[in-house]
Amino acid sequence: MKLRRLHLDNFRAFQATTVELDPQLTLVLGGNAAGKTALLDGIAVALGSLFQGIDESPSRHIRKEEARRSVFTINGVVDLHASWPVVVEATGSMRDPGDPAGPPLELTWRRTLEGPDRRTTRQGSKNLETVGQAYQEQVRAGQLISLPVIALYGTQRLWLRKKATEGVTGVGNRFDGYADCLDIAATERLLTDWMKQRTLIQVQQGRPHPQLAAVTLAISTCLNEVSRVWFDLAHDEIRFERGSNPLNVESFSMLSDGYRSVIAMVADLARRAAVLNPQHGEQACQLAEGVVLIDELDLHLHPAWQRRIVADLQRTFPAVAGHRHHPLSSGALQREKRAGPGAVRKLVASVPGARGGPRQQCAAGRRVRRVGAPCRGRVRAQADLRPAR
Ligand SMILES: Nc1ncnc2c1ncn2[C@@H]1O[C@H](COP(=O)(O)OP(=O)(O)OP(=O)(O)O)[C@@H](O)[C@H]1O
Ligand SMILES: [Mg+2]
Repeated sequence: MKLRRLHLDNFRAFQATTVELDPQLTLVLGGNAAGKTALLDGIAVALGSLFQGIDESPSRHIRKEEARRSVFTINGVVDLHASWPVVVEATGSMRDPGDPAGPPLELTWRRTLEGPDRRTTRQGSKNLETVGQAYQEQVRAGQLISLPVIALYGTQRLWLRKKATEGVTGVGNRFDGYADCLDIAATERLLTDWMKQRTLIQVQQGRPHPQLAAVTLAISTCLNEVSRVWFDLAHDEIRFERGSNPLNVESFSMLSDGYRSVIAMVADLARRAAVLNPQHGEQACQLAEGVVLIDELDLHLHPAWQRRIVADLQRTFPAVAGHRHHPLSSGALQREKRAGPGAVRKLVASVPGARGGPRQQCAAGRRVRRVGAPCRGRVRAQADLRPAR
């Protein structure tokens, strides 16, 4: 699944704006209140349309508080108005469930909210809903069609230390990989329970569990310094070995914020990839396709790791970012350096990258500016949201 374009009308601070998306990778840069989170939320609405065709998956409607609000002051009296309709329209491509090895389906779909008492329309996204239904039918028939990984990691994952109330229960099915995927916050409890359950199965069956192997491989691929990760039944916790010294073992709960936030996200994404596509075995992360949105990617990370994190993630999930085996180009690294530590705030994998005009005026009073032509490496485009001069 790849997204190529997103159009927003009256969505949060955006009056009418179109953002061209790179099918591989986009970094969205911008100061506070530039609209970065709003852009990711608009994409989440678009992606959520797929789930209209999949029961028990998290369809995402447009919320009435997401309608663009204007404030007037008349004789000292504040007058607040929302603007309608709110529109989210996306263009992208998907594997054709009727012919998975054939050319992808090119689709444009649209969700609209006409007013405060209305529901988000579905007519304009029937085409994507039909694709979702076809996926569901095939999966329910036991066919090995690849399901796209879809995930939005919002900022709540960074400061909401609440534990997930529900852990892993029962056997479940492939669509569990979509649970809460458009609003991922607390993942640690779920991950711990899941790894424990898979470890017990592994012990009982006396052979490696491929889904567990996919997750541990993802962690050690993303973090070179982690040589081994496992659920330790004796300690009843996830443990890590750093480097080659077997005495250098840390538990998940003792990790620093930087390690904890990256490992929790990578492990959660890997677990989803493995659950959605068990036919890929321990290669689930290498083969995973889809769209992943990450807000505040670099928070808690040292500047040296901020410059590395995009390459680390692409190495771990090469097909999600749409590339294989290409290191992040030095050009891209230099651009990140110029942006300065803390500037790379959002990662939209499998998304933006304009080939169109260099600037687009968005009605929030900000220019959506493309920085950098497509480069040889993996970062194909950066969307820079800056105040209009
Ligand atoms: N319904 C709405 N109507 C009008 N403006 C809104 C609405 N909802 C949010 N905004 C405004 O949109 C702007 C962009 O918010 P957003 O959260 O996307 O910023 P951001 O770029 O993610 O900033 P930060 O880096 O601080 O997280 C903010 O000024 C916010 O007040
Ligand atoms: Mg934000």
